[in-house]
Order: sequence, then structure tokens, then C-alpha cells
Amino acid sequence: MEVLYTKKALQLVLQDARSKGKKIGLVPTMGALHEGHASLVRRCVGENDVTVVSVFLNPTQFNDKRDLEKYPRTLEADCALLEACGATYVFAPSVEEMYPEPDTRVFSYPSVDDVMEGAFRPGHFNGVCQIVSKLFYAVEPDRAYFGEKDFQQIAVIRAMVKDLGIRVEIVSCPVIREESGLAMSSRNTLLTTEEKNTAAEISHTLFQSRDFAASHTLEETREFVTEQINRTSGLEVQYFSIVDGDTLQEITEWKDASFIVGCITVFCGATPIRLIDHIKYKG
Ligand code: PAF
Repeated sequence: MEVLYTKKALQLVLQDARSKGKKIGLVPTMGALHEGHASLVRRCVGENDVTVVSVFLNPTQFNDKRDLEKYPRTLEADCALLEACGATYVFAPSVEEMYPEPDTRVFSYPSVDDVMEGAFRPGHFNGVCQIVSKLFYAVEPDRAYFGEKDFQQIAVIRAMVKDLGIRVEIVSCPVIREESGLAMSSRNTLLTTEEKNTAAEISHTLFQSRDFAASHTLEETREFVTEQINRTSGLEVQYFSIVDGDTLQEITEWKDASFIVGCITVFCGATPIRLIDHIKYKG
């Protein structure tokens, strides 16, 4: 495994691989890697000849600068994990390398980017599109792998790829959970052991709500989830939206869509740490 820091160095090795007919897979990350990322990398390694993992803490997608400051940075441990997973190249550029000039491009994909995370984190998806498009241009991957935990992010990236006409297959990979059910996230390392135990109530409630939904209305299910989580000391729901899984628009009845997902964001602990998760009700 080789660690590369510039687009030029990366393009040189990839040009060579491409000229030999090799398939290139990309796993974009912001570092602080965990088992969820490892599952993406292993899948990418299994499906491509060359696996590039980018490790870049992208400043333009953080609408809250304190969130960026406290985001864990663990490049050395990340490289050890990536080597063990069989990655070919780690691309770890500096901010100047990725943004030699301020990126003024504006990406707008209503309806998928202006609800939920888009509404609560203004500018977040614009920053995601800025960096992911730059990575796609630099790597020109045949396939790119994203975790389904960021359910809305995948919808936004698919919309961007379609809009820009980029030739890449977007592969979405299932959420990996801790034994407690808590969805794996780099932000989990910012939780104390007690907060982590508390946070497990989010997935417990979502799983329970799938049974509850079978005999209750959508509105009752929405209330069940919100109230049960808010009753847990140390947790506060920011939003819980039950949406059409394709358009990401809120629906009011179970019959309104054939693919239905409940997306939640919860503040956990004293700091507090913002955690997201989702559950599929239908489809
Ligand atoms: O999901 C993430 O970690 C980031 O949003 C991504 C896709 C690597 C872009 O910075």
C-alpha cells in the first residue's frame, strides 16, 4: 500500500493501472476509520483491481466550525487499518491540494438536498458535492463506495453524478452496527462509555418501531419514536422524518410510497454529539 499526497502522484499511478485495463474503485472517507469503513474497503478490494481510499477531512462540508475542530484525526491508525483491508493507495491530500482556490461551485438538487440534513446543516451537501466531484475527477473511478448510514448523502451524490454526467457506478453498502445496535460512526469516539450505552437506545427504538408500524399509523409511529427517544435522559431528537426513500419527501400514510425510510438525527450527551441513523419500513 502506498500513501500519496498529491493529485499528480495519484494520477500517474492510476494512468498506468488504467492503461493495463485495471478497474479502479474509490472509497472516499474523512478518516477516523472504523469497521464500517473497513467493510466498504474490503468490498471495493473484492470488486476492483485497484482500491483508492481518500482520507480527507473536507472543511467545506462543515457548517459548524466547532464540529470540524473536534472531528477525530487518526491518519496513522487509518493507514494501518487500510493496509490490513488490502487497499492499494491511500490518497491523503492537504486542504491546499484539494482547494488551491476557494471552491465557488454551487450544487443544488431539490428535493433530495434541501430536506433533513440539508435543512438542518445548510451548505453541508454543497461541500460534499464539491469534494466528491473533485475526487471523482482526480481518480476517475469505475466504482465508488459509500455507507448507507448516510442515507441522504447517497441520494445527493447520485443526483450529482447524473447532473454532471460522471461515468461512475455508485455502490451503497449496508450500515455496520456495534454489538449494542449503535450505527458505527467516527463521531462515536467522541462519546463517553456511558453516552455510547445511552445512544444505543436510538437503534433499539428504530428496530422496535418496525414492529410498532405494522399495527399503527405513520403519524403514531413518528410519535412513538420521537417520544421514546426524548424520554431517555441524554438524548434529544433533532428530527425524525418518515420519507419516500427515493424522493426523500415526507409522507403521511404508509400507502404513500413503496420504499419508506425513517431518518433520524439525535443529540447525545453533554457536548452534545450529533448522531444519525435510519430504518427501512418498506421496500
Ligand atoms: O461520508 C463522508 O465521510 C464524507 O461526507 C465524504 C463522502 C467522504 C466526503 O467528504
